Amino acid sequence: MTITDNRTGRSVTVPIEGSTFPSAALRELDRTLRLYDPAFLSTASCASSITLVDGENGILRYRGYPIEQLAEQSNFLEVCYLLLYGELPTKDQYAEWQHEITTHTFVHEKVKRFIDGFHYDAHPMGVLVSTVAALSTFYPEAKDIFDEQSRQQQIVRLIAKMPTLAAFAYRYSVGQPFVYPDNSLSYTANFLSMLWRIAEPRFDANPALARALDVLFILHADHEQNCSTTAMRTVGSSQADPYVATAAACAGLYGPLHGGANEQVIHMLNRIGSVDNVPAYIERVKKGETRLMGFGHRVYKSYDPRAKIIRQTADEVFEVTGVSPLLEIALKLEEIALSDDYFIERQLYPNVDFYSGLIYQAMGFPLAMFTVLFAIARTPGWLAHWLELLGDPETKIYRPRQKYIGADQRDYVSIDER
Ligand code: CMC
Repeated sequence: MTITDNRTGRSVTVPIEGSTFPSAALRELDRTLRLYDPAFLSTASCASSITLVDGENGILRYRGYPIEQLAEQSNFLEVCYLLLYGELPTKDQYAEWQHEITTHTFVHEKVKRFIDGFHYDAHPMGVLVSTVAALSTFYPEAKDIFDEQSRQQQIVRLIAKMPTLAAFAYRYSVGQPFVYPDNSLSYTANFLSMLWRIAEPRFDANPALARALDVLFILHADHEQNCSTTAMRTVGSSQADPYVATAAACAGLYGPLHGGANEQVIHMLNRIGSVDNVPAYIERVKKGETRLMGFGHRVYKSYDPRAKIIRQTADEVFEVTGVSPLLEIALKLEEIALSDDYFIERQLYPNVDFYSGLIYQAMGFPLAMFTVLFAIARTPGWLAHWLELLGDPETKIYRPRQKYIGADQRDYVSIDER
């Protein structure tokens, strides 16, 4: 591509690789020239080999493997390994990986006391963000980010301890004693045990529900350069330790436009209240008075492939739990939206969050836990990007430029004269 600066008549020819060109070439034209792209609509911030999202065609692949195959045939821990190390593990590698994760699920006793300091109605995401950051103080060697062994240890700890922190945050919010991890259980079954166990010596989750949660975790495990992953990379680029970088990523996820959307979907369905009110709600959305939560995506301009799989998982969960009374409203919303010009023109389709909230609710999770579940699942993705960033010779500290639109130089006026 040849770019001509019409002010000077100078041209520069830039190579287009895939669909990107190096913006550095623009500096050849004029060192002060900047691309203005406030929400990174057309900016590739890094080169990555982890996840492919093809939004036009509704394709999602981790390390080349289609999400549909992984959701059907793999499990969350195996997918974690794949995302982090680039290949599916052999039997021995998997056994070692599973052993490592399973034996690092406990947290320091002081973490419990730290959680005790929160207000009784603290949102579990606020608790999670803070406790993940606090892990940094328990493992000071995590600062040694260029030591491969240390990096590996923090990765194992983070993936292993996230469910424990999440479950503790939940138990605290309902005033129940913390349940310690049960290392004889699978990753998701242990999580469910830490959440729901009361007095029984061992809690065996319904296998269909444990599997459904595992599938949901697989679907949420990575999604390339979204808001939270970009936060992880941004903080990671300053060479901060992975605990505080993961806390930053969790904070990015918390917002209602990102990982908080699944909670908002249920609020919305509750507000709509019945199928009869759906058309009126759609009219309000079209007038711009509100948004259809769980719809639309920056990248997907067709049906989100994760939403398709989740729709199927929802049926499997409802077979065990009974059908959610909100499902009927959700289906009607989807039916009307998919045939309405407003949504067709803007290419707005259900995203991953449209049905995941219904599943979580049917499984008994309170709304405030939904984003926490997303955070557990996204942790391997964040860490895979952190590893990739550290190993990339092109990595420099993230430092975007700005278009300054403030006041010109002016002289200070003393407070008495203002
Ligand atoms: N309901 C109604 N209108 C919408 C919606 C929606 N959910 N999403 C986008 N639009 C409209 C928007 O009003 C705009 O219309 P116009 O051109 O007339 O101004 C047009 O579609 C483009 O929207 P945008 O806000 O420029 O799109 P974006 O790429 O900046 O936003 C989004 C993406 C996901 C933030 C947005 O679609 C949204 O707010 N969706 C609802 C929240 C949600 O479900 N988020 C979860 C995303 S998936 C999970 C994850 O990866 O985090």
